[in-house]
Amino acid sequence: MTWLVTGGAGYIGAHVVRAMVEDGAAVVALDDLSTGAPDRVQGAPLVTGSVLDRELLDRTFAQHAVTGVVHIAAKKQVGESVADPLFYYRENVTGLVTLLEACRAAEVDRFVFSSSAATYGLPDVDLVTEETPGVPLSPYGETKLVGEWVMRDCATAFGLRSMALRYFNVAGSASDELADPGIFNLIPMVFRELEAGSRPKVFGGDYPTPDGTCIRDYVHVADIAAAHLAAARALDGGADSATYNIGRGEGSSVLEVIEVIGKVTGRDVTPDVVERRPGDPARVVAAVDRIREGLGFTATRDLEDMVASAWSGWRAARDGA
Ligand code: WQD
Repeated sequence: MTWLVTGGAGYIGAHVVRAMVEDGAAVVALDDLSTGAPDRVQGAPLVTGSVLDRELLDRTFAQHAVTGVVHIAAKKQVGESVADPLFYYRENVTGLVTLLEACRAAEVDRFVFSSSAATYGLPDVDLVTEETPGVPLSPYGETKLVGEWVMRDCATAFGLRSMALRYFNVAGSASDELADPGIFNLIPMVFRELEAGSRPKVFGGDYPTPDGTCIRDYVHVADIAAAHLAAARALDGGADSATYNIGRGEGSSVLEVIEVIGKVTGRDVTPDVVERRPGDPARVVAAVDRIREGLGFTATRDLEDMVASAWSGWRAARDGA
């Protein structure tokens, strides 16, 4: 009974590996190390390679007696996906298809898939439910929605049981070594400006929200990891396929996040409000009832936890460099 975690040396994957190992699961990580780091994987063997390598997958399934897969390995930069959609379809869709072929051959029917709120596009609702129509705005979001369709079709065709977990805005870290090394999202981008002695940038101050800035549902990566563990355990217990949002069900505006960053770092965070970034929805906040009812999961860490742990990891990386 071993769970394979693809992308297990990455930011989110390493948190999932840790949570599963701490829960007593047998885990093997697979990562091509394109962005992952081997020393992030502790307590589980790491197989270095790609989900596109069918032979490696077959070998890994056999050697480790894999009975379930948590598939997190993927490309995740929206802008890059617009510039190079074929790369995103190959990595995210062909990668998933290759992995599902290996699952079918090895008769592995338990599958947890890393999906995204990017599948929703510009949702015009107060709380986004799993039934809100998916109209992704980028090739990245499309690859995640197509991935969900592929899994649904595999359920019909050969009994795959899959959980699609749609992450909202992931932040924070469970420990400094597992911190997000990327500077692609609001919190690390603000840290970078502060470190450079510049003002944080707010992309647009004229949205139809109470303070004019975009609202998102930020969720701690340790909560994301706990949700994966709950999904894997539910599949082990015989659960059927499902799609779940993972968020807190609570919105925070860009200005509110920046204010928390000021409180945590003690820095002057007076921002510059600049042009809107194209394609940003005004508000994306998860409805979280379904995952609470289906998996008994509720996120427990708040925005201050996310910012404080992210800041601690950021400083540790800087001081270690
Ligand atoms: C959050 C808010 C920005 C930086 C993206 C992907 C999504 C998911 C998570 C993978 C927005 C604003 C940002 C800055 C700012 N990824 N902002 N100043 O765009 O909600 O979601 O990452 O699954 O698919 O689209 O996250 O962190 O980039 O931005 O004002 O310096 O912060 O405009 O409103 P986003 P983000």
